[in-house]
Amino acid sequence: MSQFWKPGTERPQGRVVDDEEGGVLFLSGAHHSSSSSGYGYASIEKQRQRLPVYKYRTAILYLIETHATTIIVGETGSGKTTQIPQYLKEAGWATGGRLIACTQPRRLAVQAVAARVAEEMGVKLGDEVGYTIRFEDITKPDVTVLKFLTDGVLLREMMNDPLLTKYSVIMVDEAHERSISTDILLGLLKKIQRRRPELRLIISSATIEAKSMSDFFRTRKKRREPENEEHGLQLEPALLSVEGRGFNVQINYAEEPIQDYVQAAVSTVLLIHEREPTGDVLVFLTGQDDIDAAVQLLTDEVQTNGKRSSGLIVLPLYSGLPRAEQELVFSPTLRGKRKVVISTNIAETSLTLEGIVYVVDSGFSKQRFYNPISDIENLVVAPISRASARQRAGRAGRVRPGVCYRLYTEDYFLNHMLNEGIPEIQRSNLVSCVIQLKALGIDNILGFDWPASPSPEAMIRALEVLYSLGVLDDDAKLTSPTGFQVAEIPLDPMVSKMIIASSQLGCSEEIITIAAVLSVQSIWISGRGIQKDSDEAKLRFAAAEGDHVTFLNIYKGFLQSGKSSQWCHKNYVNYHAMRKVLEVREQLKRIVQRIGLILKSCESDMQVVRKAVTAGFFANACYLEAYSHNGMYKTLRGSQEVYIHPSSVLFRVNPKWVIYNSLVSTDRQYMRNVITIDPSWLLEAAPHFYQLQQHKPLT
Ligand code: CDP
Ligand code: MG
Repeated sequence: MSQFWKPGTERPQGRVVDDEEGGVLFLSGAHHSSSSSGYGYASIEKQRQRLPVYKYRTAILYLIETHATTIIVGETGSGKTTQIPQYLKEAGWATGGRLIACTQPRRLAVQAVAARVAEEMGVKLGDEVGYTIRFEDITKPDVTVLKFLTDGVLLREMMNDPLLTKYSVIMVDEAHERSISTDILLGLLKKIQRRRPELRLIISSATIEAKSMSDFFRTRKKRREPENEEHGLQLEPALLSVEGRGFNVQINYAEEPIQDYVQAAVSTVLLIHEREPTGDVLVFLTGQDDIDAAVQLLTDEVQTNGKRSSGLIVLPLYSGLPRAEQELVFSPTLRGKRKVVISTNIAETSLTLEGIVYVVDSGFSKQRFYNPISDIENLVVAPISRASARQRAGRAGRVRPGVCYRLYTEDYFLNHMLNEGIPEIQRSNLVSCVIQLKALGIDNILGFDWPASPSPEAMIRALEVLYSLGVLDDDAKLTSPTGFQVAEIPLDPMVSKMIIASSQLGCSEEIITIAAVLSVQSIWISGRGIQKDSDEAKLRFAAAEGDHVTFLNIYKGFLQSGKSSQWCHKNYVNYHAMRKVLEVREQLKRIVQRIGLILKSCESDMQVVRKAVTAGFFANACYLEAYSHNGMYKTLRGSQEVYIHPSSVLFRVNPKWVIYNSLVSTDRQYMRNVITIDPSWLLEAAPHFYQLQQHKPLT
């Protein structure tokens, strides 16, 4: 195993601890054995003052006072997210009923930083400091002054308040992530600033890619704005870089390419634990599946081979994790223990974990990819960029010199990884984006001032789908009422359309349950080793019509059990996910009533449920390839090869015609959440969409 690792030659993290001849490994940090949690003993005020941004407090406040836009770059952990909003409040930006907003691309980060800031300020979360994510609003009108929210939620707020008048300052955080909502938001905020010169924007980012941001905000139309000049407000963006205080991180690479990164990550963690001095470990995997698998493998190891792994505390970190489990990740590690956090790329820059000394980087993350030709979008496990790899490594150097183990070769890093990631807007289906801009009255979407332009092909595809959904009319304007209703529901337009159709078909009670289930990550408990039992449990609820109807059976069973957690446990159903389903369902019910739809149950008539699904998801129709013996389907639209995912109740059943909810791509394209349909419904639901497809046998 010790032959396995090779120290890297590139040293992006600065000075490096000397290697012995021949590359003796794992030696950096060996002479530091102090507890990493010492930091946690300082008072909160002291901790705040120790953060790198503290030295810049006056400069930051001055720039914000005098500039319409301030761009702040600083390494992860320097205190941008938790401190700057507090400085603003202390400086009086939240008086007179005005609010300070701080956006994050990720929901979990919103919750975590809001909780931290409330704690630092000694207030109850939801009072002065609150947060809003989709389907969860922890704020109080007239009380909350610091509001953390996802960039998507702020976009939605613009539908009711286009100039975002209640905010005095908006901090768009994690701008380097270039999430689709961040990009849309930046384009719109630039527009708002022309109408509301007093609004201050802060763009904060972990990488210097902020340069392109500053160019974006600089290219505003030259206009004389005498009033602003009077106030001495600069329209050119200010750029401030906060010097970090990261320690050196030694990089080790795999000597050979690695096949199974989950297994390799687990072995590496055990090796670190066996050979390296104290310090917590952060492992980057890609999503709930592989994280749960790794947690399971390590937990098994702790149970069966206690000696080798004594003192290991293994914790997952991904969005959708219940709050109590999230908090464990942030709690200080006890002396003599070693915390291992196994995370998605959320820990790359959005969240700071104290005490990390070792990073294990799989080199992968889950990324969205969209192909406008086939009109297929899926979430793919794909290689990260070099910029991400450097960020991940940097997480090891927060408290003292650290070590990063890259589960890929140095050659791969240097010659095969992209230098930087591609903005999400250039690799996404744009249906949601288009409808949001339309709802905000932006008609010329191709001419919109984007930080990075989406592809015209993707834009045309989106317009076409929205037209077929009956959301846009011949002039590409929102239809009334359907278009406006779809825009009001904070879900994917296809799901929203399904809900609207269900109101007409008399099955809205059932369809909002389905929509709520689809909005949580998974209602099943997964993990290596329990597959067989959980499959058997699933069979008890399986409906011949497919997964959507199966969800209804589970929901019914859960209600009949009195919402019991034991019932969930027995049936391999995720109790927390079901609680979330109940919550989301309640909210959807309110929204549906507000926009004038009828709530009605169809009792046991599942045909109307399937028709409602078809009305929203007709674009995802597939048929079983007649000569295929391995369950190969083709998409009706693009003739792409797809297969039913093994987690579906229709796996191996292979009905002739199906509609899927989403695709995941591993070795093949797999359809997740599948339901059987009658192909004649497709022409009924979307005659325009399928008019070119009539040579295909719709039988
Ligand atoms: O945004 P940035 O990456 O610059 O830093 P931050 O998120 O504001 O974190 C600043 C410090 O707050 C970190 O060093 C952590 O010590 C601490 N923090 C924490 O202890 N718990 C959290 N949930 C968030 C931050
Ligand atoms: Mg941050």
